[in-house]
Amino acid sequence: TAATPQWRPVYHFTPAKNWTNDPNGLIYVDGKYQLYYQHNPFENQWGHMSWGHASSTDLLHWQHYPVAMPEKTDNGDTTWRFSGCVVNDKNNTSGFCKNGGCLVAVYTAHSPNRKNESQYIAYSNDGGMSYTDYDKNPVIDLGKTDFRDPNVQWDEQNKRWLMVVALPLEHAVRFYSSPNLKDWTLLSEFGSNQGYSGHPWECPSLLQMPVDGDEANKKWVLFVSCGGPEGGPFMQYFIGNFDGTTFISHNPGTSYLTVDEGNTFYAAISYNDAPQNKNIMVGWMVPLKTGTSPWRGQMSIPRDLSLRTTADGIRLFQQPSSVVAKRISTLPAKQQLTKSNVSLINKELAFSTQPAFNTNAYWIEATFIPNSATDVGFTIAQQKGGNGTIINYNVATNELTVKPAAGDEIHPLKAVVQPVEGKIKLQVLFDKSSLEVFANDGEKAITTYIFPPKDATQFSAFAKGGTAILDTLKVYSMQ
Ligand code: FRU
Repeated sequence: TAATPQWRPVYHFTPAKNWTNDPNGLIYVDGKYQLYYQHNPFENQWGHMSWGHASSTDLLHWQHYPVAMPEKTDNGDTTWRFSGCVVNDKNNTSGFCKNGGCLVAVYTAHSPNRKNESQYIAYSNDGGMSYTDYDKNPVIDLGKTDFRDPNVQWDEQNKRWLMVVALPLEHAVRFYSSPNLKDWTLLSEFGSNQGYSGHPWECPSLLQMPVDGDEANKKWVLFVSCGGPEGGPFMQYFIGNFDGTTFISHNPGTSYLTVDEGNTFYAAISYNDAPQNKNIMVGWMVPLKTGTSPWRGQMSIPRDLSLRTTADGIRLFQQPSSVVAKRISTLPAKQQLTKSNVSLINKELAFSTQPAFNTNAYWIEATFIPNSATDVGFTIAQQKGGNGTIINYNVATNELTVKPAAGDEIHPLKAVVQPVEGKIKLQVLFDKSSLEVFANDGEKAITTYIFPPKDATQFSAFAKGGTAILDTLKVYSMQ
């Protein structure tokens, strides 16, 4: 494919070149957010699975490093490094650490030859730059073709490591515990006939989170990536309790909750050891058909997760991480545009007249009061006075839709959200081809890609069918 620099995100992580899928080994250590990622170092398509590596101090600027775990061939048997996690073994429970603590990666070794997936561990005494495989790997092998994506955390209550790992074809996850990351004991299994089971289950993770910020009322959330029906791949989550051994979902039966209403947010996991006990999640944005080059695939904006009570029950909310938000609030004045109390009457109000906002790399925070309008929203990646992607909130149906311009890959996406005190709040993170829309402080998220032509760089706010107020507007130019 010819190079597509016009679609290269500027404030989202992409590999310098070639393929990425899942984020792996997210861990905050020594003031840095480490990011490993499923990577093909040789081609711009899936294969030769290795762990690529980058790190960041602000979750916005990423420094690239050499591949941390390359594919390996021994006696004709190839090992691909599939998805997994990294933990900080502060107390040297593993016995691998040279100077007090060390990092230990727990991941799936995939053998294409032997059609086996089993769990491996590897340790790093150089701050996560390189890893040495444990010489007695695998640490868990069920002799299965599909058994992957271990996610490990320290269970403080029981003073042991806790792993959740997927049995993709059984649509189930298993929980294991270990004192030392080497010897694992099966605790329980969850799944089969719970939630959505139309596609294989992958990349599970388990988090404990306060409800409405109340530390005395915490729930456990189990995340599972699960391929996807026509709409594209998606992630489901279960809210429930975990007693150290067994997860009990409070979701009724086979109903399921969706993390993101778009068609690309997948294989997301959260940072281990993030400051202030924050749960910061990063997802892979699965490429659509349109090719990008010389890279393919990218990460979502890192998201702070929370649980909040809504009219429908307790739900997951996601917001662009406060670490990122803090950083962008310090952008120079010429990269910030602020407006308030703008009346919108059956017309579009264009903002991209200023050069800084004419770059298809911006971040919008807006609040609308719909009043008599039937629809309010934004047109982005718009040709002068013409076609663009429409982010539309319909007042009668409460539907937020993202509708790419004709000619782009057609995938109208929607989420239902009620106005809060008569206002609808939208955050639009548009980055060249990457698009994330958050409604009502992250009650719903829609993540997708659009591939605008080079001259489609305008954006505007609109009201249709009546009058609306653009109550507040803040736009950051991210160029
Ligand atoms: C999810 C996934 C994982 C696997 C990895 C391989 O996208 O299929 O289950 O570990 O990708 O690259």
